[in-house]
Amino acid sequence: MSVSNSINVGIVGLGWPGERHAEALNASPLGVVYAACDLNAERLKAFADAFAPKRTFANFDEMLLDSELDAIVIGLPNALHYPFSLKALQAGKHVLCEKPPTMNAGQMRTLHEEARNRGLIYYFGRQMRFSPGMQAAKRVIVERRLGEIYFAETMWVRSRGTPTGLDGWFTDRSKAGGGAMIDLGVHAIDAAWYLMGTPQPRAVSAQTYQKFPQLVESKVFDVEDNAYGMIRFESGATLLFKVCWSANLTDDIPLSPKRGRSLLSTTVYGPKGSLRVTDVFNIDRSTCPSAVALFEDKGGELVRSEIPAQDLRGDPLRAHEFAEQDKNFLRCIRGEESAVNSSSQAVQLMEVLDAIYRSSQLGKEVLIS
Ligand SMILES: NC(=O)c1ccc[n+]([C@@H]2O[C@H](COP(=O)([O-])OP(=O)(O)OC[C@H]3O[C@@H](n4cnc5c(N)ncnc54)[C@H](O)[C@@H]3O)[C@@H](O)[C@H]2O)c1
Repeated sequence: MSVSNSINVGIVGLGWPGERHAEALNASPLGVVYAACDLNAERLKAFADAFAPKRTFANFDEMLLDSELDAIVIGLPNALHYPFSLKALQAGKHVLCEKPPTMNAGQMRTLHEEARNRGLIYYFGRQMRFSPGMQAAKRVIVERRLGEIYFAETMWVRSRGTPTGLDGWFTDRSKAGGGAMIDLGVHAIDAAWYLMGTPQPRAVSAQTYQKFPQLVESKVFDVEDNAYGMIRFESGATLLFKVCWSANLTDDIPLSPKRGRSLLSTTVYGPKGSLRVTDVFNIDRSTCPSAVALFEDKGGELVRSEIPAQDLRGDPLRAHEFAEQDKNFLRCIRGEESAVNSSSQAVQLMEVLDAIYRSSQLGKEVLIS
């Protein structure tokens, strides 16, 4: 592929994130949605009507045979992330795979090695790193206005918000790998970890629960709907997390249009100040006015200020975040930028998730080696 050509991308799995990637890719001069694949004929047709890929497929193996394809974006149920990413890399294609990267760290290590040995990009989907709020927060932290971050707390909590997916796969361990933790927890933990500067995780103490089976209509529900815990880092910093699909949340958590009460919020603490980033899509702005709030110690007084970030309430589908993320992926392929969401960080993230589930099973803190 010459650097002047736009990159031909094939998208497999055409649900909500598949469509968001298609919008992002077609909006960029760097890439184009060249092919699309889904088992579901209705979704494939609707996608083809909306995004006009040159080729459509019901079978992924057939799509991979197309030598014009440079890269694959994967928006499939979690259990398919690893086998489809591996096949794509082995066929010589770059990969951007939705979160969670894989079902466990062992699978992610294999993908990391495979991509590295073949000189290909493996990139994990975490578009929220690119939200205006996160980017504004990151700038404040890089300017060292908080000092060395020693503690963070992060949550994605919903009072009534268990997802189903096309056939109820989100609550089926064999298809999802886990529940609220692997679904929302990946976003919440990654938000804090990214703001902390991705320190090396050292140990985890966590507990998962399944407490609200009566709220789930899907046939299979054998995963957790709540997860809580603490991660220790080599740096000495610690991170507390709270994640739930369902809980009897109190009224300090704002009402959301679809999920009962819901909040995705991350706060990092340093000796000079603290900073809270709240996801604008998950808050009622009248009760929680600031997306990025900075609290600085000024001569013993704690002074609050709002960090300006582009207001994206008019962008309910997160087009800006996906556009920025997918641009970074395409520029990595062209050798122009390094990956913000790298395969080595995907390995570390999956090591943390493995440790969370293991700690919960064992009922004690576990080390990450
Ligand atoms: N980044 C985000 O904010 C975000 C948001 C939602 C979902 N996700 C992730 O995206 C992934 C998909 O989630 P979703 O909500 O779109 O699920 P979904 O069930 O709505 O869509 C999955 C699609 O994959 C297709 N599919 C399944 N098996 C296939 C196969 N063998 N070959 C081709 N197509 C196949 C299904 O027909 C379906 O259209 C999940 O991993 C989820 O965690 C990310």
